[in-house]
Amino acid sequence: MAGGYDDRDGFIWMDGVMVPWREANVHVLTHALHYASSVFEGERAYNGKIFKSREHSERLKRSAQLIDFEIPYTVDEIEAAKAEVLKASGLSDAYVRAVAWRGAGEDMGVASARNPVRMAIAVWEWGAYYGDAKTKGAKLDISKWKRPSPETIPSHAKAAGLYMICTMSKHAAEAKGCSDAMMYDHRGYVAEATGANIFFVKDGEVHTPTPDCFLNGITRQTVIGMLKDRGVKVHERHIMPEELAGFEQCWLTGTAAEVTPVGQIGDYTFEVGTLTREIADSYEKLVRS
Ligand SMILES: Cc1ncc(COP(=O)(O)O)c(C=O)c1O
Repeated sequence: MAGGYDDRDGFIWMDGVMVPWREANVHVLTHALHYASSVFEGERAYNGKIFKSREHSERLKRSAQLIDFEIPYTVDEIEAAKAEVLKASGLSDAYVRAVAWRGAGEDMGVASARNPVRMAIAVWEWGAYYGDAKTKGAKLDISKWKRPSPETIPSHAKAAGLYMICTMSKHAAEAKGCSDAMMYDHRGYVAEATGANIFFVKDGEVHTPTPDCFLNGITRQTVIGMLKDRGVKVHERHIMPEELAGFEQCWLTGTAAEVTPVGQIGDYTFEVGTLTREIADSYEKLVRS
């Protein structure tokens, strides 16, 4: 049985070298710890191969640029580093976490131009993100927090600062016996869950929010492609809260969540229907193909 995330065997890639897991530490005056100057990726390897690995590395670089720093490694170097850590882990089905942040250095105020940018990659085993929701359908709370406008924060970055309200939403949801929370955006449209995108089905067609103030997930884009290949009509549009009552099926997509059926959001209920099951099964096959 693995211990806490800081107390495990194995190696973590840190700033270009493999470091024993328990020694992969940072100083308390790390800029990112105080000011959220950090970006990350969540990826999954299946049968020893990271699904859409390059797209994740490219997004990591882009996220850093969006929050105003440059990761000092090329996409090819990040790819090689991820492969090295995965191999060292001995795992074939695994979760891969790459993270880059402004470290400790000469600056300790809000500005941080003189501090080094650092990076680490860790790999571990992570099963179903929502437990048995894959078969039963997840139960979601509705968060009081709204996804912020792109004029307020770089909302397309996978950046630590954007997750503060996600953690709070998820804690409130779990206290009510839910697995997660659905969030509206700053305009009141349906947005996403705290770590996954959302899809709805009505009359055989699929509706999903336009990702104009949240992450256009790699899984989301993959699933839209799968639906289109099947000839299913996909509407990417703004979705009003009052429409929730009229949708028949719902699922979440994300690297960690994969395709997870949703059975309930607040007082609205959904069936774990045929299209949901088919898409979940096809995704499972695709990532292993
Ligand atoms: C807030 C948020 N939205 C959406 C997603 C889905 O993104 P992806 O499918 O690229 O993992 C994630 C997971 O990374 C997320 O954290």
